[in-house]
Amino acid sequence: MGQEMIHEYLPRLKQRYKPQVTIVNGENATLVGKGITKKIYKGLLQDGADVVTMGNHTWDNQEILDFIDQTHKLVRPANFPEGTPGRGFTVVNVNQQKLAVINLQGRVFLNDLDDPFRKADALLTELLKQTDYIFIDFHAETTSEKMAFARYVDGRASAVVGTHTHVQTSDARILPQGTAYLTDAGMTGPYDGVLGTKYEKVIQRFLTQRPVRFEVETDGGGQLDGCVVDLSDKSGRARQIKSFQINPDHPFMND
Ligand SMILES: [Fe+2]
Repeated sequence: MGQEMIHEYLPRLKQRYKPQVTIVNGENATLVGKGITKKIYKGLLQDGADVVTMGNHTWDNQEILDFIDQTHKLVRPANFPEGTPGRGFTVVNVNQQKLAVINLQGRVFLNDLDDPFRKADALLTELLKQTDYIFIDFHAETTSEKMAFARYVDGRASAVVGTHTHVQTSDARILPQGTAYLTDAGMTGPYDGVLGTKYEKVIQRFLTQRPVRFEVETDGGGQLDGCVVDLSDKSGRARQIKSFQINPDHPFMND
């Protein structure tokens, strides 16, 4: 359902907001919500994504290993250990400028990757030599880690947008040194489930405290969440960040 929502609404969103770069998190893009395939990745690009970021589900579909090293538009968390396939950042050309897109993963309640704060230091030091425009998808579980990270890079990154927790937060703001920030961009997929999963199964797991086979929600409508960041054309600082939701309760154009 997520792919269908992107196919239907991403071109319309691009018409409306006219972004120069479109970044989509694709780590749950397969029909079962685990990882990404080459076909789905290409579909996201065809529908208008310029860069696809990932997260803790990067390797759930092994097919990614067949193409991750052949593209510069697919970015997995940069703080995986040395020697991990793929890349942790990419740089895209935007008119006369460049935009660096970094993917980092938090460590609270997630895998014990390298320190994302110090990894960000190293990457920002290098990338700021090339461009002032730097976007970070910070893929993390806790709001505290996301907020602390954004404060840590405030004034060095143009935007920090959180992903992974699937529920869009309503805290879009510009931090004091000019970094746009949103704790979580939300999710694209089934609107009726619990984070995309049939809610009955999730309730059953909570009630029984036993493993329950989850199923992707197929009933009800879809949703697409995201945000638009406007950066200064004179510096890498942000001028505005605005979140949006498309779902049966917030139809497109009526928000
Ligand atoms: Fe995730």
